[in-house]
Amino acid sequence: MTAPIKHSDPIIVDVALGERAYDIVIGRDVLQSLGPRIAAIRPGVRTAIITDRTVARHWLAPAEASLAQAGIPSSAIVVEEGEGSKSYAGLEKVSEALIAAKIERNDLVVALGGGVVGDLAGFAAAILRRGVDFVQVPTSLLAQVDSSVGGKTGINSPQGKNLIGSFHQPVLVIADTAVLDTLSPRQFRAGYAEVAKYGLLGDEAFFTWLEKNHNDIFAGGAAREHAIATSCRAKAAIVARDERETGERALLNLGHTFGHALEAATGFSDRLFHGEGVAVGMVLAAEFSAQLGKISQGDAQRIRHHLAAVGLPTRLQDIAGFAQEGLADADALMALMAQDKKVKRGKLTFILLEAIGRAVIAPDVEPAPVRDFLQQKLAG
Ligand code: GLY
Repeated sequence: MTAPIKHSDPIIVDVALGERAYDIVIGRDVLQSLGPRIAAIRPGVRTAIITDRTVARHWLAPAEASLAQAGIPSSAIVVEEGEGSKSYAGLEKVSEALIAAKIERNDLVVALGGGVVGDLAGFAAAILRRGVDFVQVPTSLLAQVDSSVGGKTGINSPQGKNLIGSFHQPVLVIADTAVLDTLSPRQFRAGYAEVAKYGLLGDEAFFTWLEKNHNDIFAGGAAREHAIATSCRAKAAIVARDERETGERALLNLGHTFGHALEAATGFSDRLFHGEGVAVGMVLAAEFSAQLGKISQGDAQRIRHHLAAVGLPTRLQDIAGFAQEGLADADALMALMAQDKKVKRGKLTFILLEAIGRAVIAPDVEPAPVRDFLQQKLAG
């Protein structure tokens, strides 16, 4: 795998889902093509753009201008930033606004934002008038490489994350890599964890390439487009084979079993962004795999070394406030993993590594060794 040297034409990744197939368009400034691309696939539509306050400040006007230039009417629905909008109240607000904006069955919802906006807008589109089409315009790295692709949409229940939702594929994804220039370094890094995930779960050559090219990805060079396109291709291939997660799609949860428990233990707060939880979770999954003899200690160290090199947290002790507030004990973390529905008849489902680039689904991990492992990690 070689790094492209120059920014070039947009890269198009096809998500091959038969009559629900769609393109992911990746490149600098591709937001300008939003209107013409929608006009080409859905002539005559009206649109409603759902976004949040921060994204609106930067990117609503260019999105509206592109739609207007293509003769597409649009209205805007702006929600509060953050996970709180992915709620029954947030869904009600957005759904009522879509009805008030007279979005009809053949019209289109545009999700302009990160994972929260994409999940919320996608779910609102899935249930409005029994389903209207939607376009994802992801504005965070995490959304560009993960949440905007594959059709998982939904909101949180007070009892857990993403418990209310549906599979509803977008009809188009526009991933403008220049939009990522306005992210904070911490947000960008958190998204990078999901990029590294694709190397770890199925593509050793990509992981090796990331080890060499991560600086250019962070700096906004051409390696950024290549990394996003490679991630999207990997996800698109898995989704095309297992859209509803009856098997292989679960590999995309590498690092998420531990990661979600850590996010829950820190109250889904700014102490730990989702991607940071995934980074720590992937290192824990690698170290646990090493303890089970599935992967070498050297490979587990190599994974930790790379994620640490880009500035991601890789140990429980790296989580903000660990020294002052602590985290949770091993039993509490085990209970949080159980709440995350990854327990079946007392056994945990983990994604483990057999090598860098080879992840496997382990559906029957006994809790006792996991608890001992966590206790050991909490002790440093
Ligand atoms: N984010 C995991 C998936 O889309 O399946």
